[in-house]
Amino acid sequence: MHHIRLDSDTDFDGWRKAARGLVLADVVPADVTWTVAGDEPELFDGPGLAPGAGAFAEAQASFTDSASTQSASTQSTFSHSPSSQPASLSDDTPSPSPTQTFNVPARFVELAKTAILHRDPQRFAYLYQLLWRLRTNPELMQVATDPDVARLQAMAKAIRRDEHKMHAFVRFREIGREPKSRYVAWFEPEHHIVELAAPFFARRFADMEWSILTPDICAHWDGHAVAFTPGVAKSMAPSDDRLEETWRTYYASIFNPARLKTKAMQAEMPKKYWRNLPEAALIKPLIEEAERKTSAMVAAEATAPKKPQRQEQPMTKTTKHGAETLAHLREEAKDCRACDLWKPATQTVFGEGPQHATVMLVGEQPGDKEDLAGKPFVGPAGQMLDRALAEAGIDRAKTYVTNAVKHFKFVPRGKIRLHQKPNTPEIKACRQWYERELATIKPQLVVAMGATAAQSVLGKITPINKNRGHLLNQADGTQVLVTVHPSYLLRLPDEDAKALEYKRFVDDLKIVAAHLNKAHAA
Ligand code: URA
Repeated sequence: MHHIRLDSDTDFDGWRKAARGLVLADVVPADVTWTVAGDEPELFDGPGLAPGAGAFAEAQASFTDSASTQSASTQSTFSHSPSSQPASLSDDTPSPSPTQTFNVPARFVELAKTAILHRDPQRFAYLYQLLWRLRTNPELMQVATDPDVARLQAMAKAIRRDEHKMHAFVRFREIGREPKSRYVAWFEPEHHIVELAAPFFARRFADMEWSILTPDICAHWDGHAVAFTPGVAKSMAPSDDRLEETWRTYYASIFNPARLKTKAMQAEMPKKYWRNLPEAALIKPLIEEAERKTSAMVAAEATAPKKPQRQEQPMTKTTKHGAETLAHLREEAKDCRACDLWKPATQTVFGEGPQHATVMLVGEQPGDKEDLAGKPFVGPAGQMLDRALAEAGIDRAKTYVTNAVKHFKFVPRGKIRLHQKPNTPEIKACRQWYERELATIKPQLVVAMGATAAQSVLGKITPINKNRGHLLNQADGTQVLVTVHPSYLLRLPDEDAKALEYKRFVDDLKIVAAHLNKAHAA
């Protein structure tokens, strides 16, 4: 039996060195146990098993991985370097021949780097099991149904999800007063993702000094580099401050009872994260208030004669196949890396609305508020849009609302994030999502709000003023209405011009309303 002790829970290099030595020495997976320094039972604490020096780490497993130096390579060479110190793997194990090498697909290395962050104590063994099989069956990574591959893919997916949750749910509290303030957050990740997630916070909050405290490990940013220190108890974290109120006010302002879907909301913001979110205290009362308002509305509507209408279904309750498709698209888009905008953004902001909406509204890209909330058009431009839609007689809840670009593009200016217009390569990189939303929802009418939306929807740069005010027929049978973006109205400095442009915007939307009424009557 070979007992390997790794330096830490995220010691990928240690695992790789040890695994190479084991494979080259023909050690079957069943003959290996893996532990992390500090976690192992007393039994393994004998001489020769000091941290970082398990039987194979100790064996100076100085094998080289050529993948890291060959960016185009799809193979990693797990080779034994003869120039290294003697590879006396263990007394009862044959040393690998100096010329022995084996290749593994680079995809495996990528998968292993992610899956090793999972909290399952068996992860090192699962990885070694797959590595062992890849040696003789290098095509295995292509077999998604293989139980070893599928298990590790699922673990890697859990890591990406956990990373996404950390990006979205870390809430900093301000300690001290400016200019000496520091921001500290407490977070409890499900897996060992702090080192993976930390660069995001360094990019996003580059101008602040911050610490993220967790039970496993803490990350600190001083404006230049991220440093890590051991984990701490929750009692070390600050509990309250003036930023709490900001979060609560913001959350209450974006909470829209008309769009309340408790299950979907809890899927996005699982209860286990609530205890560390300042706004969590609001969730229950806001839901109760929304339910109360909805019941009152339903009761009131029951007394009025109503024209039968086409049943609009919420996303989670439509035909099983269709609903899964839109949900699947949203899930896939969470990991979109088609351009670099995902890097500083909090999350992908996907479209929202009924699966079979007749009308699809397309904006430019999420703004600051949308980026934090993960929902389109919930900030000032969204409020302007809601007002104009209501005035035109359109129920937003019956439309599908999305953006041409699904990540927030900005430049940090102090604590503010200044909106930046997406460029053509970014619009093109993101168009796949618009196309897939379009193919899934099949709306009759698409409203392109602003130049970016018009460029994405019509596939070319399209002047707004020349094309607004009438429906443009498309080859696929949809019709497109081009109009201004609601934030254009917000930016107009002159009140008279603002009122005039707002009216023109509402007039454009009335064309949509007329179309909807016709469609419902038909
Ligand atoms: N502007 C947009 O184009 N989309 C949003 O979601 C918010 C602001």
